[in-house]
This record gives sequence, structure tokens and C-alpha cells, in this order.
Amino acid sequence: MTFAAAVNPTIFFALWDGSDEKTNNGVPELKGQILQILRTEQKTVSDKRIGSELGIPAASVLNHIQELQEAGYQMSVTSGGVRLDKSPDALFPWEFSKREFKIHYYQELSSTMDKAKALAFSGCPDFTTVIAERQTKGRGRLQRVWQSARGGLYFTIVLRPNFPPALSFRVNFTASIILARVLRDMFKIDAMVKWPNDILVDELKLSGMLSELETDGEMISFVNLGIGINVNNDPTIVEPGATSLKKILGRNIARREILARFLDEFEDKIHHQNLDHIISEWKEYTITLNRRVKIVTINGHFEGFARDIDENGALVLEMADGIRKKVIYGDCFH
Ligand code: BTN
Repeated sequence: MTFAAAVNPTIFFALWDGSDEKTNNGVPELKGQILQILRTEQKTVSDKRIGSELGIPAASVLNHIQELQEAGYQMSVTSGGVRLDKSPDALFPWEFSKREFKIHYYQELSSTMDKAKALAFSGCPDFTTVIAERQTKGRGRLQRVWQSARGGLYFTIVLRPNFPPALSFRVNFTASIILARVLRDMFKIDAMVKWPNDILVDELKLSGMLSELETDGEMISFVNLGIGINVNNDPTIVEPGATSLKKILGRNIARREILARFLDEFEDKIHHQNLDHIISEWKEYTITLNRRVKIVTINGHFEGFARDIDENGALVLEMADGIRKKVIYGDCFH
């Protein structure tokens, strides 16, 4: 059964067409290895030396260099060899070394959720990640549209956690904690979580999450977690309550490191750490509690005082008559 689970652009027109053919049978893409050598050396390196390190002819190195240049990498190529001058803000699979084979990168998709779902049904591995430079039908929670112009970070991760569907909320709560932490650490910004899983800075929305769950009997078959982060795009044109990293920091931001760090830290937490106390951990990051909120659900809206989050991630609201009400799925306005 499939259902939407709760809780939850740098103008770079690369020649890369977004093909997700993974034809190199587990052998890392040579472009990634060539870039690694050039980044380590930070000077001109002869194509012969690169070729001998990688076990390929120098002519083949030069072909890859040309393709990298066409994809936006600025290189100086002289008789002495090759130097990497500047990398584009690129999310090509080879930029994610050890997870290269699980990255499916596209210039444009209707929604990364759709592509991820098809991949999940075809049996792709845990932590397969679909990235699009832009989405033509980006989806938000509660059937809203997610503005997905170039410059933002739009991706969906296919997760296959080993726990029952009732605990699937842990995925979203874990992801929002990790994303807030990564953003705080990388940019020294006050990233806070709004119930259920939005990331706000100064009360303006920087990121949102959407998930879709597929069960198989008593177990989760997959949870697809879609995340949109406003990085270099300007969401305020249509969403006055939103912001972007570029607006906050006043400069263009490279997206690759955000995604790489998020994936590494999120995977570590999901696979190797105990998630039994994830809700109390989440509470340390939230600005939703102990304030009046308006809740919007598919069936209507109501107001109350946000008292707590229960052990299943539901928001505990105290209504005007003192009665407490639990909200499992909805959106919250402070
Ligand atoms: C929300 O806050 O309403 C959730 C927004 C989720 C947006 C992301 S962008 C990547 C993925 N693909 C989509 O179509 N939506 C999610």
C-alpha cells in the first residue's frame, strides 16, 4: 500500500543529460578520480602521470578532461599537463565518490519523488538518491506545489529501514535533526525545526520534507524521503514566508557539500545509532512548542497551544476548552 506519510539554482546548464545508466559495473567513474588527483595536487599535473596512476592512456585522460570542461569545470590545459582552476556547483554522481553508483542525477524531472518511486519498485538499493536541478511539478505536503527553480537542492532518498511502518516517522524526524545540524555547522545559522519537519531560519522556511511509504505486510518496503532546500534560488517571489541560503548569507553557496554531508550523517544515524530517543532529541531543535499555533490539515484548520510531541511524533495541542488533541498529519503555522 502506498500513502503519503506524514511527519513528515547557480545557473548551470551542463551538457550532462542526466542519464541514469549505470553502465560501468561498479568501477568508479574516471572523471571523479581525475578530479581527485587534480584537487589533491592543486597544480598542473601531466596527463601522462594521471594516466599511469589510473592505468589508462594519456589520450583517454584528455578526452575526460574535455568532457569535464564541457560540463562546466574550468581547466588550464598546456603542454605541461592539466590544472583544475574552478569546479562548477555540480551534483554529478562522480562528485559523491563512495556513493556514486547510488546517485541518479537529472537536469530536469517532473518530481524526484516520481523517479525515486519507479526506482524503488524496481528494487534499487537503500540510500539510492535522485537529484534534479529543477522540477516541473515539484510537490509539497498537503498537495501543495514546491517551487523548484534552478539553484535549489531537490532530492529524494529511497530508504529501506529495517523497522515496522508504525516507526516510519523516525526517518523524517531524524532527517530534520540532521539537516538542521548540518546547516548550523556549515553556515553558522540558527536553523530550527518547525513541526513536523520544516527547517526555518528567523521564522522563514528554508527547507521542507515530504515522504511516501510503501509497506510489504508487516514491514516497510521503502520510505522515499524528498527534501527541498532553498539554496541559490529565490523562493520569495511566490512564497513570501520563505527564504534561501543565498538570501541569508548574501552569496552563492555550493550545494554539493551540503548534500554530501547530509547523506553521510543521515546514513550514519539511521544505520548505526539508536533512534529510540529521536523525539526528545528533535525537541532540542524545535521552535514549535509552547506557543500558539494554527494547524492546517486536509480536513480543515484549528488553533491551539502546542504543548508537546508524543512518542509517535504527533503534535499535542491544548485547545481553548483545555482539551488536548493529537495531530498526526498537518501543517503548522506559528
Ligand atoms: C513541504 O514542505 O511541503 C515539502 C516539500 C518537499 C519538496 C521536495 S523537493 C524534492 C522532492 N520532490 C518533490 O516533488 N518534493 C520533494
